[in-house]
Amino acid sequence: MTATIIDGKAFALGLRERVAGEVARFTAAIGRKPGLAVVLVGDDPASAVYVRSKHKATVAAGMESFEHRLPADTSQDVLLALVDRLNADASVDGILVQLPLPPQIDERAVITRIDPDKDVDGFHPVNAGRLASGLAGFVPCTPLGCLMLLKDQRADLAGLDAVVVGRSNIVGKPMAALLLKESCTVTIAHSKTHDLSSVVRRADIVVAAVGRPQMIKGDWIKPGALVIDVGINRTEDGLVGDVDFDSAASVAGAITPVPGGVGPMTIACLMHNTLVSAARAEGFALDEDAL
Ligand code: GUN
Repeated sequence: MTATIIDGKAFALGLRERVAGEVARFTAAIGRKPGLAVVLVGDDPASAVYVRSKHKATVAAGMESFEHRLPADTSQDVLLALVDRLNADASVDGILVQLPLPPQIDERAVITRIDPDKDVDGFHPVNAGRLASGLAGFVPCTPLGCLMLLKDQRADLAGLDAVVVGRSNIVGKPMAALLLKESCTVTIAHSKTHDLSSVVRRADIVVAAVGRPQMIKGDWIKPGALVIDVGINRTEDGLVGDVDFDSAASVAGAITPVPGGVGPMTIACLMHNTLVSAARAEGFALDEDAL
């Protein structure tokens, strides 16, 4: 058996087009564009690339992009004052402070300062709590993208055994909460899990977010399982995921490649969250079926 290769790049492009369609409807009805503010502190080259991609995607979706670049030696007080200004600015629907931040700044202090209703990253503990309690909020972009890809493969996930490998606040924990909301039986595995291969072998859905190159082997995968690989690991052989793609693809029912799987979904979901934020702020009814 050979798995369906899940084309995250194509799905993300389609999502971005659907978001752009709803952005156009919003702008015509409300008389302003949804706005996303992205804050970059310092000049980490990888972060600069991400911020540039986010800016281009925001403009391409028909939204307003506000970029704030601050020097690497910016104090925490100056950054918090900028967050306060963005919180109070009615033209800003989404605020994203690019991580990591320089060592003199406490990331937790910055994330918790963002208005939870503008926290399109979904990193604020209030949004983590809303997700855990089934309330409307913002879901972090990467796990949201993973869920969209899974539901595109199989609309009804109820009753499936899902194993999330990794327990980060940004991916593992929110992913588990989303799968629970879909009525999966969810296991969160991590570095201390005993006999990880046996745990993964039970799963109808595997979400790998550990950051260890090709750790999950084909013989850990239940035949026909859906495999979502969040890993992006740079090795001598180039970019690889947390799943050993070649061996897993001969057993799985469907699997995301690296690159071209989960990666492109993250920015598309950021656009989605920003549109949702603007719609909530203005009481604008989105056509959820169009998204
Ligand atoms: N750094 C790497 N990925 C992300 C992200 O999704 N959001 C933020 N704020 N910083 C990041």
